[in-house]
Amino acid sequence: MSARYDAIGEGYASRRVEDPTLAARIAAALGDARTICNVGAGTGNYEPRDRTVLAVEPSEVMNAQRPADRPAIRGSADALPLFDASVDACMTVLSLHHWHPHAARGVAEMCRVARDTVVIATIDPRVCGRMWLLRDYLHEVREMDDRIFPVPEVLVGWLDRPARIEVVPVRRDTPDASLMSFWAHPERVLDPVARAATSGFARQPADVVERVVAAVREDLASGAWDARNGELRALESYDAGLRLVVAHRDQGESATSRS
Ligand SMILES: C[S@@+](CC[C@H](N)C(=O)[O-])C[C@H]1O[C@@H](n2cnc3c(N)ncnc32)[C@H](O)[C@@H]1O
Repeated sequence: MSARYDAIGEGYASRRVEDPTLAARIAAALGDARTICNVGAGTGNYEPRDRTVLAVEPSEVMNAQRPADRPAIRGSADALPLFDASVDACMTVLSLHHWHPHAARGVAEMCRVARDTVVIATIDPRVCGRMWLLRDYLHEVREMDDRIFPVPEVLVGWLDRPARIEVVPVRRDTPDASLMSFWAHPERVLDPVARAATSGFARQPADVVERVVAAVREDLASGAWDARNGELRALESYDAGLRLVVAHRDQGESATSRS
């Protein structure tokens, strides 16, 4: 059982608060599903409150940050502790990259337990890798992402029902302070608490983090960051690579991509 978040999940709930835009997109994607399994459920973000949710989570540290009235089942994506076709829908949010190298197995498990709908919120590493932080400073995370994030088209191929890919722009003011949110906030690189709330930074050795912090600090002070990326200061949202892959049994020929 993965215990990665037992090491890096402390304080998650305070920095990673549900983003209302993504929550609404997930709720819409779940359609009229009444029973939902949430895999890699963490602290409970993005779980619809008006449905029956079976949360599956391997980390004790993450489970301890869940609301007391929304308990989780201890479990892992590669062997979901549910019977076949036992829920209407199965969802996972920003967890799939932690299932590597068993991501395909986890997606097959989601299909096994979900009668109708599968919703996967993930990152397209090709798009995320173009964001200034990964492009110019944190190459180690760009290279890691290329290894651990299947591109959305590959995910669609793993699903056993028709699927579409949706683009979800990340708002400047998102309360979910993932690494993607840094597109608008270069100053967050200098903040150890902000860095610790992202698995991208948390998984890097200290010398890499120190190098990136020093370089961003220098470029902010000299104006070099703004000279290269200043147009981002005026944007309210940005495509940082966040994607929803939505699959329904009855979607038929109408499966398309949309933004
Ligand atoms: C970035 S957090 C996302 C948590 C939550 N879904 C959210 O959006 O706030 C990633 C979660 O995936 C969980 N996780 C890691 N490996 C897993 C695995 N093999 N199976 C299921 N969940 C896993 C972690 O424990 C953590 O709670």
